Amino acid sequence: MEAMPRLEFERDLHKKFLNRFLHARIPSYLANLDTNRAVIMFFCVAGLDVLSEIQNIDVECKEQMINWLYSLQVDSEPYSGFQGSSTLNTAENQGIDAPYKWGHIATTYSALLALLILGDDLSKIKKDKIISSLKALQLPDGSFKAAIEGTENDMRFVFCAACISYILNDWSGIDLERMVDFILKSISYDGGIGQGPSLESHCGSTFCALASLALSNNLNRLSISQTRNLKRWLLFRLETGFNGRPNKPTDTCYSFWTGGSLQILNAYQFIESDENPSFVLMTQDKYGGFAKWVNSAADPMHTYFGLAGLSLMGFSDLTEMSPALNCTKRTLERLKTLHAQWT
Ligand code: FPP
Ligand code: ZN
Repeated sequence: MEAMPRLEFERDLHKKFLNRFLHARIPSYLANLDTNRAVIMFFCVAGLDVLSEIQNIDVECKEQMINWLYSLQVDSEPYSGFQGSSTLNTAENQGIDAPYKWGHIATTYSALLALLILGDDLSKIKKDKIISSLKALQLPDGSFKAAIEGTENDMRFVFCAACISYILNDWSGIDLERMVDFILKSISYDGGIGQGPSLESHCGSTFCALASLALSNNLNRLSISQTRNLKRWLLFRLETGFNGRPNKPTDTCYSFWTGGSLQILNAYQFIESDENPSFVLMTQDKYGGFAKWVNSAADPMHTYFGLAGLSLMGFSDLTEMSPALNCTKRTLERLKTLHAQWT
């Protein structure tokens, strides 16, 4: 087999790509992400955090971003949390229980992490209201829906609920027994974990499940054979890079979803290939950013997860990750300092 070309890591281009999303309009090819602008902001500041460039954003600009994020906080139970974008607040959408005037659990998680990365102390977060609103999102089977109306319930939102509880240092919004039960029931016949019981194993949902167990100190609820089968299924996702499930093409983001899952299970060292870094580097765009595949368009999500995945691989000038919360060790340390001040 022909050896893959070794590519340069285009650090400066990635910095420019991420800053462009923070300072300019969303390009038209990503206009469908307009209602998720807070999540895009998270991917950009989180990527700059991995690059250790966050400290180079000037204070005024950071303040503007922090204020904009806080403008998306909804302050009424059981709707508390963060909206994805100011675009949701049209003239027809005023008042307390208007459609979309409610938090979305993935946005709340992203906004909290983005605020932390930007240096905010979370003092303006309506902690109690957010935690009690989480309660309204957990279903009897232990899973979470993303918002009070109109969303699916699955492992993605279990992960977001666990992260929100971890960040706010308050687990009273989650029935943990039910959550763990949902996770254990979602383990599939092949050893991986799906978005819910009887659903196809997927590295995204496997990561969400393992991170939720790790953050809530419940990894020991996996039996020895479940843990062994999970490691095996995850390691089998490796081709040149990682795919997210059998017979799917390799994709940059799975260097984090799969690599992070393996790191949570203390099994990252069993990855037997030196092609994974080259695969991820090949998905770099010549104008900066990472795409999902080689020769396709870069986007903020794959740029962040490409950088996070390379950091797991030990790229020397990238900040070390703490996979379970999906942030750098620096950001986790900052959170722990805040927790110490809150008690
Ligand atoms: C792949 O999806 C990824 C997942 C299923 C995990 C998604 C996780 C969350 C939404 C929770 C975390 C939230 C943030 C903002 C980080 P895909 O649809 O790309 O899967 P495919 O590769 O099979 O198409
Ligand atoms: Zn992807």
